[in-house]
Amino acid sequence: MKRILVTGASGQIGSELTLELRKRYGNDKVMATDVRKPSGALLDSGPYEEMDVTDQNSVERIVKAFRPDTIYHLAALLSAVAEAKPQLAWTINMGGLYHILETAREFSCAVFTPSSIGAFGPSTPPDRTPQDTIQRPTSMYGVTKVSGELLCDYYHLRFGVDTRGLRYPGIISYETPPGGGTTDYAVEIFYEAIRKKTYTCFLKQGTYLDMMYMPDAIKAAIDVMEADPSRFKHRNAFNVTAMSFAPEDLYETIRKRIPGFTMRYEVDPVRQCIADSWPNSMDDSAAREEWGWSPDFDLDLMTGDMIDHLSAKLT
Ligand code: SER
Repeated sequence: MKRILVTGASGQIGSELTLELRKRYGNDKVMATDVRKPSGALLDSGPYEEMDVTDQNSVERIVKAFRPDTIYHLAALLSAVAEAKPQLAWTINMGGLYHILETAREFSCAVFTPSSIGAFGPSTPPDRTPQDTIQRPTSMYGVTKVSGELLCDYYHLRFGVDTRGLRYPGIISYETPPGGGTTDYAVEIFYEAIRKKTYTCFLKQGTYLDMMYMPDAIKAAIDVMEADPSRFKHRNAFNVTAMSFAPEDLYETIRKRIPGFTMRYEVDPVRQCIADSWPNSMDDSAAREEWGWSPDFDLDLMTGDMIDHLSAKLT
């Protein structure tokens, strides 16, 4: 990777990934794009262009001018918003990906696309979900994620585009909040624990989901794009995970560091239904074998680091 363009650069992953890419590859070599203008270090440290991925002309114009060799395509709606606006989710998640792949084909770019635990559904084996298994998701988000995985495979097979990707679990971070995902409780809980010492959780007790701390999510995104593809048996949509927990596990881990913290439950039926259709835990051995994936943060380490950083930020 020498010149990189990031879509969705103002989002939860994009805002941190862009800065890390600039640190590694040079500030002027990494172009941030989004429909929302970033602020602070992200805006000051390197080039930014307003780009709407649903507009193929603007995607082509910006790629033609900047000539990246790699595109990190992060612009997408998350699961709960996608469920509220399914037509818009199709337009952004699928239309956006199609425009990026077409432009990558034309200008010979490699493409990173995040898939998700959302690409699985109720008929998927829920425990240690294998890399290759049944994928019949029941949410619009999941439909766009499976379709995206297939489209990326197709562009590689048919046109030789160097597409690569990961099935991310819920991502926990303290810089930029996620927007409208089912796993967002695992971020919100930290803000509320520090600010109010009490949290109302929208998923019920016993809802196990895979999660990952942002430094691992960024490491995975960079490592898979830097990996030697001759070792790949898979290419797009590698299962990656760092931990699996239910709300009460996270609550207990936080309470050890914030005594007196309380949590109650007020279940959101839409997000509960989405969470129930996703795996409890994924098997990420293909990523470990094919490009050396290994996370650094478990539940305990992540919790300590989140509380340290967020306490400093919020006080
Ligand atoms: N974090 C995402 C969501 O909840 C899952 O990929 O929508």
